[in-house]
Amino acid sequence: MSIKIIGTGSYVPEKVLTNFDLEKMVDTTDEWIRTRTGIEQRRIASADQATSDLAYEAAVKALAMANTSAEELDGIIVASITVDHVFPSTSCILQKKLGAMKAFCFDLEAACSGLIYSIEVAHALIKSNIKYRKLLVIGAEKLSSIVNWEDRNTCVLFGDGAVAMVLEKTPEGAEDCVLASNLGANGTYTEILQIPAGGSRMPASQKTIDDKLHYMTMSGQDVFKLAVNAMVSSCKEALTFADMPSSSVTWLVPHQANYRILKAVASRLDIPEERVYMNVNRYGNTSAASIGICIDEMNRGGFVKPGDVILMTAFGGGLTWGSILLKW
Ligand code: ACO
Repeated sequence: MSIKIIGTGSYVPEKVLTNFDLEKMVDTTDEWIRTRTGIEQRRIASADQATSDLAYEAAVKALAMANTSAEELDGIIVASITVDHVFPSTSCILQKKLGAMKAFCFDLEAACSGLIYSIEVAHALIKSNIKYRKLLVIGAEKLSSIVNWEDRNTCVLFGDGAVAMVLEKTPEGAEDCVLASNLGANGTYTEILQIPAGGSRMPASQKTIDDKLHYMTMSGQDVFKLAVNAMVSSCKEALTFADMPSSSVTWLVPHQANYRILKAVASRLDIPEERVYMNVNRYGNTSAASIGICIDEMNRGGFVKPGDVILMTAFGGGLTWGSILLKW
């Protein structure tokens, strides 16, 4: 049994926050942000938009492209670290908004690797169970709600956005679009990228709010090194499994964290920069949405044609990582 991506859609909020805007908020400069990260601007959701609202906009576009009605969906998986509520799941909230009442729903948390993890799970579900024909996979984040806007180490890096993909089981004998994939994690590094409070370890209290423990904290340089190593080895594993050289990759689509990370990964894989898709300058790091927004832009912009080989790779808090080698 095999699967195909039959529709993609993405959404970014209207409000643009530039590096120059950030200069007025924290002690930073456009020059520092651009040279250290490649980011020029990011999108910020409005106060009345939650992650499910961003996801809904992306889902409607993906379903339209897939010529699929919400009632046809067998399942919805939402990857996010900025869910609407601890529970119920954001996927259940989205199910109601879409009217996808036949779909099972769950959220998946693997930070910036969330979309790769979700595609892998959806792929396995479709391939293993005759019941599931069409699944909606979402990566959606309102990172502006967990960023400490007084912390220049983190607030310059992130933005809001969402992506949706419709995956369909293809007829017997058709080629699978997933040529190779792998997932990985290393829980010994949980503390270098986290939100300290708000879970069962440290429930919300006046003190956790006063100490700003509900915001993201990060050890940037540690993340940088681990990100490059993990994505390179994960990509190599996928290429080895598929028995393909890196020269056969039409597009490398890495998680859009920082253009220096992207360049380092491409260089170590021997993939020239012109074959690396980047939009980090426009959106910053949108975590689980990041790779998918690239794929949707490439799809709608005519950057990909049938038969192209796309290597998606991601890295995020946990630590988690993963790669998927796709034939478009
Ligand atoms: N503006 C100006 N100066 C700053 C800023 C800023 N926005 N942020 C930090 N600095 C300062 C630091 O305080 C430090 O000053 P000091 O030398 O006086 O102490 C100096 O700049 C250099 O800081 P470094 O950490 O050495 O800068 P570096 O070149 O490593 O870049 C960065 C920092 C951009 C965070 C980089 O380490 C990085 O991109 N790391 C990866 C981050 C990442 O991808 N995180 C997301 C992971 S995905 C997920 O799961 C959410």
